[in-house]
Amino acid sequence: MTPPSPNLSLVDTDPAELAVDAVVIGVHSQPEPPADAAGPAATLLLATGAEAVAAAFDGRLTETLALLGATGAPGEVIKLATLGTVTAPVVVAVGLGPEPSGAAPAPETLRRAAGAAIRALAGAQRVALALPVPDDTDATAVLRALAEGALLGGYRFAGYKTRPQPARREPVAEVAICVPDAADPAAGAEVLRARAVTRAVRLTRDWVNTAPNELRPPAFADAVTEAARAAGLTVEVLDEKALAEGGYGGILAVGQGSTAPPRLVKLSYRPADGGSGKQVALVGKGITFDSGGVSIKPAQGMWEMKSDMAGAAAVGGAMLAIAELAPSVAVDGYLSMAENMPSGGSYRPGDVITMYGGKRVEVLNTDAEGRMVLADAIVRACEDGCDYLLETSTLTGGQVISLGKRVAGVMGTAELCERVRTAGDAVGEPAWPMPLPDDVRKGMDSDIADISQVNAGMDRAGHMLQGGTFLREFVADGVPWAHIDVAGPAYHSGEPTGHWTKGGTGVPVRTLVELVEDIAANG
Ligand code: BES
Ligand code: MN
Ligand code: ZN
Repeated sequence: MTPPSPNLSLVDTDPAELAVDAVVIGVHSQPEPPADAAGPAATLLLATGAEAVAAAFDGRLTETLALLGATGAPGEVIKLATLGTVTAPVVVAVGLGPEPSGAAPAPETLRRAAGAAIRALAGAQRVALALPVPDDTDATAVLRALAEGALLGGYRFAGYKTRPQPARREPVAEVAICVPDAADPAAGAEVLRARAVTRAVRLTRDWVNTAPNELRPPAFADAVTEAARAAGLTVEVLDEKALAEGGYGGILAVGQGSTAPPRLVKLSYRPADGGSGKQVALVGKGITFDSGGVSIKPAQGMWEMKSDMAGAAAVGGAMLAIAELAPSVAVDGYLSMAENMPSGGSYRPGDVITMYGGKRVEVLNTDAEGRMVLADAIVRACEDGCDYLLETSTLTGGQVISLGKRVAGVMGTAELCERVRTAGDAVGEPAWPMPLPDDVRKGMDSDIADISQVNAGMDRAGHMLQGGTFLREFVADGVPWAHIDVAGPAYHSGEPTGHWTKGGTGVPVRTLVELVEDIAANG
């Protein structure tokens, strides 16, 4: 079992007198100390929220932290024994970078700092965050970021070790966030929201981190069904028989090489108040393992392809959060699940597949399987009716080459792409709009079918754009849509950083939730 989420509360009493195991304060770096400043202390600045703790140190806190090597760099965590100066035995200074020109640091800076501090404090029971929370209109965004950062930094995947790990320190059990007014209903609402959203992100991470032999399509569908039913969502599962009867050629083609059959899971949320009348579709790629199929991938790094269902996991996670947050808009989630394996039954390069809805695709590379399973789900979503279609997938290595490991690529109709970018910025999941040029589509003309699955000459130029261009063919005319390629951001293979632990990140759950709430509020 994954350790439970930390318990989160708000406090408005003096942080110097809190009975906790550690108090976290913020420190800013000061790149250019004033000319008249003496000593190393001048390179550091205490952040708002640290005043009471600083006072208990008789003005020597900055100097002491500097002696311990604090620079205020983002992500830096310095621990200091308090020896009776404040009630908590440990003060932790977390770096917030240069002092902001405005009232408070950017929410994402605080989200990462809270995550880094809670991660570094594993083993402690109770921790207080005395970080900057402005007493104005920015407070909501800041509080949201602190709460999310703390709850996500406290995430750890259970793993599969058979022996107890005595040296392993358990995630922090309780986090208290210091705020100006703990009884403020708006602040309380943010705590509830952060709990709902991070529960969804944590479950998404669990699914991504689960070993691929434990999460083949039927097991994935079962896990999603169970969580969705418990959240009050309506669930429809198409198994291999229903997929065959329905003519879902793309999902079936990819799944036919595996002994574990494919699934299409549809989750539906309907607002109690009837909502705005608008309908949003979320579509996710759920390849539980991508070996490449007959066009097999190299062995190096292939194990990371257990994360190739991150898009579907994010759609599942987002649907659970939506069920809890209850926005005034109808939302349907489509999770397209298959395992891409080489075998005597596999689909092969050269095959022509009749997709759901009747379009015919010439397969050139069985490793471009994501677009095959997504196209069927997109056609189904449009057939069911939708006013906005958001699709997310670990679709191309080209996304990682062009935008790196942190920034998702967004392709689709211009206005919705811009809204994805704005929502991503707001939640700290950056995404960047990319074009779908005519020449890329021209390159995908097939001699024998309606479209080639990739460039007909197997030219990898504009690789990420080929994915988006292919998917566009399957979106019904006039539907605003966005394809969010998260091949890089969905999975973190390096050391933990900020609120990201190793493995699944839960990107883009928070973007999807933000955007659905935006559509519910503004159409
Ligand atoms: N799942 C991969 C894309 C991927 C790569 C995700 C790296 C995460 C990290 C996808 O199915 C794939 O294999 N794409 C091919 C497409 C090609 C065959 C047209 C790729 O990116 O090379
Ligand atoms: Mn592939
Ligand atoms: Zn794939």
